[in-house]
Amino acid sequence: MQVGNDGDGDYVESKARTLRLNEVLNRKRGQEGYDENYFRMYGRIELHEWLLKDSVRNQAYRAAILHNQSNFKDKIVLDVGCGTGILSLFAAKAGAAHVIAVDAANIVEYARRVFKDNGFKNIISVVKGKIEEIELPHGVEKVDIIVCDWMGNCLFAEGMLESLIFARDKWLKPNGLIFPDTAQLYLTAITQNMHSERDLTYWNNVYGFDMSCIRRCFESKAVVEAIEEQQLMSEVFLIKSIDLYTARYQPTVNFRSFYELKMTRSGPVHALLAYFDVGFSKTPDLVSFSTSPRKSWTHWNQTVFYFKDLLPVRAGEYIKGVFGLKPNSHNKRDLEFDIYIDFEGKEKCITSNQSYILCHAPAVEDV
Ligand SMILES: C[S@@+](CC[C@H](N)C(=O)[O-])C[C@H]1O[C@@H](n2cnc3c(N)ncnc32)[C@H](O)[C@@H]1O
Repeated sequence: MQVGNDGDGDYVESKARTLRLNEVLNRKRGQEGYDENYFRMYGRIELHEWLLKDSVRNQAYRAAILHNQSNFKDKIVLDVGCGTGILSLFAAKAGAAHVIAVDAANIVEYARRVFKDNGFKNIISVVKGKIEEIELPHGVEKVDIIVCDWMGNCLFAEGMLESLIFARDKWLKPNGLIFPDTAQLYLTAITQNMHSERDLTYWNNVYGFDMSCIRRCFESKAVVEAIEEQQLMSEVFLIKSIDLYTARYQPTVNFRSFYELKMTRSGPVHALLAYFDVGFSKTPDLVSFSTSPRKSWTHWNQTVFYFKDLLPVRAGEYIKGVFGLKPNSHNKRDLEFDIYIDFEGKEKCITSNQSYILCHAPAVEDV
């Protein structure tokens, strides 16, 4: 009898070993160990390929910078977390006098080569290191503009907002500009896709064994998924709005927000969903982009908080509650959520509280 394939078995075993090793390392070294893994992940070219192929993201940054050359001409620009250097290249092309591209991951060596190959070696300086630990080169003390893609899943995963705020407070000139400079986080309700593979009842009986303890682990995970517009069941509710010129890290990424979702359709609601919009308010044509399921796909997808049991709703009814979000106490790049739900429908009434965790790793295959 042929069961599975030996190659896969080896792969699964070695992956499990690596995960165990990482866990031990992380426990020993706390946030430093998590950060090491984080920057190792961003050293991988596949992850940056994934970012570069997100056309919604790249076209928004390109429009915000290149359609705005009067703001960039002869300016000093700091690229916080430059990756392959795409935002530095836009800034240099828009006429910046000097761009400083900073990244702590090894990807920065590719950025260096890309700048040289495109004739920007003398305009873009590369600094390898954490933004919190580096000095700016060539005696630069302040910059005119910061460009940064700091947004993670559910806006705040990865904790990079803290690094952007650090750079802003240390190096941005008074009246300096940040690209992008606004963001909003929204909540809505969805029904499950007919083709969804999420069936947690599977764990109740696995070849006759009760594995419901594993089911509980899945129940408390926020899931990053591409949701279709037809799955939307309610209006959307703004739960957080930020202005990057004034935001402070702690209250921004540690909040509880009341929400009220008016159902627009009748049927089963399986989950709440969070997505975000980002804006470049200092652009003449007010460039922005959205990660809503109503808009084109982005690599952030949407973040889904599945209920333990579905809610049968009718159009016009409300799901109300409180949405709490904060960094995980072990790894600040992960997020913890505490979601309180209050629903009084014709068919069902519930009040419940559920906790979820979202791990920071982006949803690229096999990173
Ligand atoms: C989402 S990627 C964006 C890369 C690039 N800016 C782009 O738009 O394609 C974030 C990058 O920021 C880097 N990064 C995150 N936190 C950082 C920090 N504190 N100091 C330096 N680099 C950081 C990561 O290594 C990663 O390459």
